[in-house]
Amino acid sequence: MNLKTAWIWGLVSAVLAAGALAAPAASAETLRICSDPDNLPYSKAEGAEHGLYVDLANLVAQKLGAQPRYVWWLSMNQRKALRNTILAGKCDAYFALPADKDYGTRGMKRTQAFLDVAYAVVAPPSFSFSRLADLKGKRIGVGFASTPQIVLAAQGGYTTVTYRTDAEILAALDKGEIDVAFMWGPAAGYDNLTRYHGRWRVTPVAGEHMDHQVAVAVPAKDAALLARIDAALTELRPQITALADKYGFPQGQPVAVGMAQVQAGPADVALVPTAAGGTPYGQPSPYRMMAVAAADPAAAGRELFNSTCSHCHSPNGASPIRARDLRRLKGKYGDDWLKEAKQTIEEGRPDAGMPTWGGTLKEDQINDILAFFKTIQNN
Ligand code: HEC
Repeated sequence: MNLKTAWIWGLVSAVLAAGALAAPAASAETLRICSDPDNLPYSKAEGAEHGLYVDLANLVAQKLGAQPRYVWWLSMNQRKALRNTILAGKCDAYFALPADKDYGTRGMKRTQAFLDVAYAVVAPPSFSFSRLADLKGKRIGVGFASTPQIVLAAQGGYTTVTYRTDAEILAALDKGEIDVAFMWGPAAGYDNLTRYHGRWRVTPVAGEHMDHQVAVAVPAKDAALLARIDAALTELRPQITALADKYGFPQGQPVAVGMAQVQAGPADVALVPTAAGGTPYGQPSPYRMMAVAAADPAAAGRELFNSTCSHCHSPNGASPIRARDLRRLKGKYGDDWLKEAKQTIEEGRPDAGMPTWGGTLKEDQINDILAFFKTIQNN
């Protein structure tokens, strides 16, 4: 039976099992697989491409002589997804989770790791990237509050431009607004392949909070199933490499970007690892910048503004374009200027090209930016 037939047969037998009809010669066991219905390049319920996890889950089921049946749950909030799927007894295998020992182990056991995922540097092939310092002097696109943003800010001497989504970073690279992107590798690799004709080289990095491995999770009590899936994964190594290629996962030799220097970074930046948590792309939870605000809100606001807003508003808000010159707020709006500025930051002016930051920036971060604005008003 080929894969597609196996998959369809999985659905058919599920339907048959649900109805009163007798399944003809349905001898094979069913493997209930939990995955995210909308998370390419990892998994997708509908469409032509089903993602690496689903393709792999189908191969594993085939090795086990089982019919795969899918239980879909969005993994935006991964804890919630686990609670409602594998931990609720709704599936036999969860594709997939970080392999770290300390990641949500209760009630689950994990197989061997089958894939490395990491942040990556995306640049034209002519750019040679072999150490972090190669990025000096480049305009580097990073995601807001991502590990790369925080590592580069803490090291100092790098020019970063912050975006809210991975798609925005690559669009900016495409338009030449930035020279390189430093973003989540699987997202970069997949979009490079499917939307940008493979025009960039995507080089993975390695380092604390920069990379991790993924594994299949099964309910803790299913030791026998765990062993069978583990064995299947070992046999499927070549197919996994082929799937990683198919979906554009960066597979080159990773460039080490250590955190050692960061710990000794500028004194006003404290790095605090956040609790493990999931994101749609399974990125490792980043370090968060803390304690800057307490020391000097205006300085923290200036730093945040210059890394997040200055590509549209110029460094320190001194844009030559009147509508973007943030030194004129007080002159323009009088006593109401802080209120007006806060509302504009939170709600944006989407029609005029000012993005919405409420939900991306926290209230105290917006207040820091306002404290910084007070120091730059013309009158
Ligand atoms: C993608 C470009 C872009 C980014 C990024 C951006 N802005 Fe803006 N912003 C604009 C534009 C364009 C306007 C002018 C809108 C208009 O014409 O009314 C604007 C207007 C504003 C205004 C109102 C100015 C006025 O005179 O009324 C404030 C305040 C502001 N931005 C703050 C920020 C802050 C803070 C950030 C970062 C967190 C930020 N902006 C990021 C494009 C941007």
